[in-house]
Amino acid sequence: MKTHQLLSTVALALCAGAVTPTTAAEPAVATLTVSAEAAGPRIEPEVYGHFAEHLGTGIYGGLWVGTDSKIPNTRGWRNDVVQALRKLGVPVVRWPGGCFADDYDWRDGIGAPAKRPARLNKIWGNVVEPNRVGTHEFMDLTEQLGAEAYLAGNMGSMPPRAMGQWLEYLTSDSKSALAEERRGNGRDMPWKVKYFGVGNESWGCGGNMRPEYQADLHNQYSTFLHAPVVRVASGDGQGNDHLIELLMERSGPQMDALTLHYYTMPGDWSKHGSATGFNAQEWAKTLKSAMGIEPRIAAVSRLMDKHDPKQRIALYVDEWGTWFDPEPGSPPGFLQQQNSLRDALVAALSFNAFHRHTDRVKMANIAQMVNVLQALALTDGPRMVLTPTYHAFDLYKSFRGATPLKAQLSAPLWHEGDVELPAVDASVARAVDGSTVLALVNLDPQRRARVQTNLTGAARGRVITAAAMDAHNTFGQPNALVPVPYGAGATGTPLALDLPPKSVVVVSLQR
Ligand code: AHR
Repeated sequence: MKTHQLLSTVALALCAGAVTPTTAAEPAVATLTVSAEAAGPRIEPEVYGHFAEHLGTGIYGGLWVGTDSKIPNTRGWRNDVVQALRKLGVPVVRWPGGCFADDYDWRDGIGAPAKRPARLNKIWGNVVEPNRVGTHEFMDLTEQLGAEAYLAGNMGSMPPRAMGQWLEYLTSDSKSALAEERRGNGRDMPWKVKYFGVGNESWGCGGNMRPEYQADLHNQYSTFLHAPVVRVASGDGQGNDHLIELLMERSGPQMDALTLHYYTMPGDWSKHGSATGFNAQEWAKTLKSAMGIEPRIAAVSRLMDKHDPKQRIALYVDEWGTWFDPEPGSPPGFLQQQNSLRDALVAALSFNAFHRHTDRVKMANIAQMVNVLQALALTDGPRMVLTPTYHAFDLYKSFRGATPLKAQLSAPLWHEGDVELPAVDASVARAVDGSTVLALVNLDPQRRARVQTNLTGAARGRVITAAAMDAHNTFGQPNALVPVPYGAGATGTPLALDLPPKSVVVVSLQR
């Protein structure tokens, strides 16, 4: 049996060691040794952030139904989705793109709705973008959600003056023409805009720029962002270390954060693989791909450390999640996909990775909020269903603001075809209320796992699991897959926790 060692950087050392062959009936046995020492700074709540783009039905239909709709809404935003998201707690929303941001003129989305121009959304399906949702509506959504606004500015196809003016329109308390225009459009008080993105994927849809050219443009555009915002530079999404190095070297002083985009898929960009109806090999490949986010974060962090040893500049993973083949029959360019138990495990593995890199990762935004890619909610007319990804976010709620603890995990490997993975992944932290919170993922779809810990106390929490790898919720059966109480699986002193195959368990230990 092969021995594999995967050492994570900060919070948790994962050692997958030699195992003796066992039958599927016997659990895979892992050991988790937790120390009381902090492994890094706190887990910023923004690590549980969101991304909503003008893409498919991500905004129109999914979040926005309009003030005249029969679907219950508050100033156009649908109540069912907003209430579900409020319940979860949404720390931050990034908007309006994505790729859409670099083809967006903010002026199209202000003023009397009837007079706003219809444009083609050339990036996503060439459908008509009515501009019914614009700046005022989006800022209203953030207020309804109690979330910070993260605006993505256009560096790809608009001049720097437009970007600076948008920020002034939003945030100025003066008597300037832009502030007065905002008041004329119904908003007296300036809004608070905490985060401002300078372009998106400038290496691709944001302008196909050379890193050198992008760095110059970043410096130019960010110069004209006069309000106090966190200036976010568009970073890597393709494994391009040179881009990171160059941006850090040439634009470091002009940025407060740099982004990383990372998408999970079992296949590749030509054939992603399907969201449901997949086999064990695709399950394993997907989880392997999901776990690849951690070495990428580590590599980018190392490059950032070289140029910013005091870690002033944050790393925002402002697009992450699964990207499967679109649902058969869905409109081209809408990126609609179902969301299964596998997505819940991808989310959990990603959260665990973020927790291990809190020195740099201060924000992460799932792509995307509703109906697009790894969505938290799916809608169909008046109907809404919450996905397993929503439930994974909910399970991990007590990690927000928590301090990751040093821990060492030794887990056996499991194989599916040529894919080799640890059977268990874990994250442990001291929650804001002082309790110890523990998240355990059993990646193996066939075999139970037992995690022997050095912890004591009563462990209470919830588990999400199912018989089928692609178990999911539908409009007909919205609660087919929801977390259920977990407690009986935690026994002994010190504690041992039994994990069903393909599961995520999150428990709190009361002292
Ligand atoms: O989330 C979908 C798209 O993925 C975004 O618009 C873009 O930034 C990325 O390529």
